[in-house]
Amino acid sequence: MITTFVLLILTIQAKHKLKSHPFSNNQIKLNRHTTIEQAPLDNYANIIYYINASFGTPEQVFSIVVDTGSVTTWISNQTCEGCIFPRFDPNKSTTLQQADEDHSINYNIGSLSGKFVQDYVSLTNGNLNVSMKFMLANVFTMPGIKFQGLLGLSSYNDRQNIFEYGYQQKLLETSMFGLNLNRNPQQSILLYNNFSQDYLDQVVWMPNVLNHQWSMKVYGFFINEIDLTDKVTLKNGTIALMDSGSSCLWLDEEIINYMLHRYILANCISSYSCPCNSPFYPNLNIYLAGVKIEITPEHYMIPSVGQYCKPCFSKAGQTTHDYTILGDPAMQAIISIYDKENQQFGVYQGNKLHKLLTFQIIQISMAIIQFVALCLFSYKFYLYKRI
Ligand SMILES: *[C@@H]1O[C@H](CO)[C@@H](O)[C@H](O)[C@H]1NC(C)=O
Ligand SMILES: *[C@@H]1O[C@H](CO)[C@@H](O)[C@H](O)[C@H]1NC(C)=O
Ligand SMILES: *[C@@H]1O[C@H](CO)[C@@H](O)[C@H](O)[C@H]1NC(C)=O
Ligand SMILES: *[C@@H]1O[C@H](CO)[C@@H](O)[C@H](O)[C@H]1NC(C)=O
Ligand SMILES: *[C@@H]1O[C@H](CO)[C@@H](O)[C@H](O)[C@H]1NC(C)=O
Ligand SMILES: *[C@@H]1O[C@H](CO)[C@@H](O)[C@H](O)[C@H]1NC(C)=O
Repeated sequence: MITTFVLLILTIQAKHKLKSHPFSNNQIKLNRHTTIEQAPLDNYANIIYYINASFGTPEQVFSIVVDTGSVTTWISNQTCEGCIFPRFDPNKSTTLQQADEDHSINYNIGSLSGKFVQDYVSLTNGNLNVSMKFMLANVFTMPGIKFQGLLGLSSYNDRQNIFEYGYQQKLLETSMFGLNLNRNPQQSILLYNNFSQDYLDQVVWMPNVLNHQWSMKVYGFFINEIDLTDKVTLKNGTIALMDSGSSCLWLDEEIINYMLHRYILANCISSYSCPCNSPFYPNLNIYLAGVKIEITPEHYMIPSVGQYCKPCFSKAGQTTHDYTILGDPAMQAIISIYDKENQQFGVYQGNKLHKLLTFQIIQISMAIIQFVALCLFSYKFYLYKRI
């Protein structure tokens, strides 16, 4: 009930905020004639999204993972131990500056270490070409992982991402960026620099709760219409990290079990061999402050062996620091906008007002029913006492 109540207040607040226009805080000043930039992304099996980026002069091109869940941009050094090819040859770049700062990164799936350098990094055939710090990896220990590099886009304020460098170097109107991740064959896009006021007026913003990760407070976990919010026992389970670098959803065990045992597994031969479509698969609806993310079976069922699919769920826990992680299946359900300067996260044309309104009406009706029941009970009790 507490969650219901909080949710009610929050949705109302969110609606109010929408009306009162979050951009009036004058930090986002935009030119109406901003040039329009969209960088196409490559999509591997709807679970990894890559962008072509070139490094150095003359340019050396890499297909690197777009990751809102980590901060450091890196590619492989020429003599890197364990890295795949292509690798960057620093001796061939005339604009490279060695920063000589050692650095290592730990991901859920392994780690890598190397050194920072400064050089030109460019996207979309040089349309954006910024001088920035990135890491050259010298040791790569992520078994089975074949990444040429990674574009770090988390909210961590101690290091800057490509769009912040671009903004500082006056190549961009804003350091904001957005992700429109889709399922094949629909094109996926990284958006930057081309946010018109019109566009921004349709974004619902939410505050970022942890400064090192894009992280949202979750007010409701619903399987179809069933409220499982109270079942979440993970300590940080009602904080969700928005992570394009995670292929799956990392959820509280209770939620996964509920979905698997009530709806999904009965259709499957094994947990890896499920039909890709079934009318019995539920939607997972996640309510953030003012936005509902509706994750459908098309988002979370991913190809497995043969003609089969499997649900792309992992148990959140120690490896995720007990956070819920909303990876690609959730990202595909929204167009997400990242405003690091103001530490806020937005959803473009969020599944918001009308849907939330229905949701609120349901909640209100439930509250009314409970109230009426209570009245009836009290009345009966009163009658009983009088006898
Ligand atoms: C960016 O530009 C493209 C094409 O020029 C346009 O179709 C798209 O709507 C623009 N996106 C935004 C966020 O304004
Ligand atoms: C990236 O570059 C490769 C190799 O040139 C090309 O095949 C691919 O289509 C490019 N991807 C995008 C999204 O432009
Ligand atoms: C670059 O040149 C230096 C000095 O000539 C050499 O020690 C180093 O191994 C070269 N690096 C690569 C990656 O070839
Ligand atoms: C890249 O590799 C070369 C050759 O091993 C090495 O000399 C250089 O220091 C490395 N660069 C960085 C930034 O680690
Ligand atoms: C980026 O700018 C630098 C400096 O002007 C230049 O040397 C480099 O070739 C440019 N890179 C691309 C891909 O345009
Ligand atoms: C939960 O979040 C806090 C704050 O970010 C973090 O320090 C902690 O490691 C996380 N995990 C647990 C189990 O508390």
